[in-house]
Amino acid sequence: MSKLLIDAIRRQPVPRRPLWIMRQAGRYLPEYRELRKKYGFKELATNAELATEVTLLPFKHFPFDGAIVFADIMSPLPALGIEFEFAPGPAVAKPIRTAADVAALPGPDEAKLAPEVIAALTHTRAALPAATALLGFCGAPWTLAAYLVEGRGVKDFPTLRAFAAAQPEALSALLEKLSALMARYLIKQAQAGADAVQIFDSWAGVLALPDWERLIRPHLQTLLDTVGVAGVPRILFLQNAPHLMEAYASLPCEVLACDWRTDIAALQQRHGATRAVQGNIDPAVLLGGADATRAAADALLAQVNPIGHIVNLGHGILPGTPLESVAALVAAVHSETIRGS
Ligand code: CP3
Repeated sequence: MSKLLIDAIRRQPVPRRPLWIMRQAGRYLPEYRELRKKYGFKELATNAELATEVTLLPFKHFPFDGAIVFADIMSPLPALGIEFEFAPGPAVAKPIRTAADVAALPGPDEAKLAPEVIAALTHTRAALPAATALLGFCGAPWTLAAYLVEGRGVKDFPTLRAFAAAQPEALSALLEKLSALMARYLIKQAQAGADAVQIFDSWAGVLALPDWERLIRPHLQTLLDTVGVAGVPRILFLQNAPHLMEAYASLPCEVLACDWRTDIAALQQRHGATRAVQGNIDPAVLLGGADATRAAADALLAQVNPIGHIVNLGHGILPGTPLESVAALVAAVHSETIRGS
């Protein structure tokens, strides 16, 4: 059976646009909050059965067109000997601050490359309707490095930017290791049943364009090329980086996913002949209630050509989002009939 989400990735005609939501298996769901009373986040994310259950939770409420496996961008990093906790964001036991720290990382241990995520993908695929797409994901090398060097999520990542400026070779060595590991990880996810993968570059925007070109592009390019050669459809997401949008648009991928700061209709006009686009309602709009959500959804649908458009938010759905807002978004997307298909 054909999957709407995959048809949209290929920019084929669709009867309506596909919809999924970043962080759709998270804290806005009452069942997730119940589970979190019993289990820590790490416990949920490292147990294949629990992770499968959480991945499927949103489908009790909403008929999304894609499921994204419940895991974290940090999940594969034990394969490089990296230890971390969540507090509530990632907190790394030993931050990487020197070339010696990078060199001391052990060679990748495939057995520790998130076997629980791979198992959760297999279980989820078996439980999902055939028409629902399954998405794998990873953090982009730079966004992973942000946590590894800084040690935790810190506004604008000054320690990371200092490391990039003072020790570009060490940064490059770190990004090379991360890029190779993430390529392997995404291909394994596809082999386990993921129909497409999203690469989250959440902290792309802290660098200026010339520094991004020099330090980051080569590694992201290698990751995307390797996954592309394996035939896995790639969704490339960048957050808070409108100044890098055109640079990202020149990278090899099937889907350009942007946050609400980017004019997605203009992005589609420039690149729609070769790329699908994904996004980009401001997640805060949903906090404003069902009417505000409906208005934002209708405006998005009116502006963006339906062919090659995957509806999503511009970043993860916020805790505290009313379920009625999500229902209003689903209703808006489902009530559209696309002429000519
Ligand atoms: O979309 C989904 O439902 C899949 C699950 C998912 C999680 N993390 C679960 C999670 C995905 C795709 C991620 C990716 C992720 N993790 C990113 C990239 C996307 C983005 O948001 O920019 C980043 C930067 C992280 C790192 C991370 N993990 C942070 C900053 C935090 C704390 C802040 C927050 O959002 O809570 C986490 C913890 C985390 N990862 C939670 C969830 C559901 C919250 C844990 C909890 O239940 O308390």
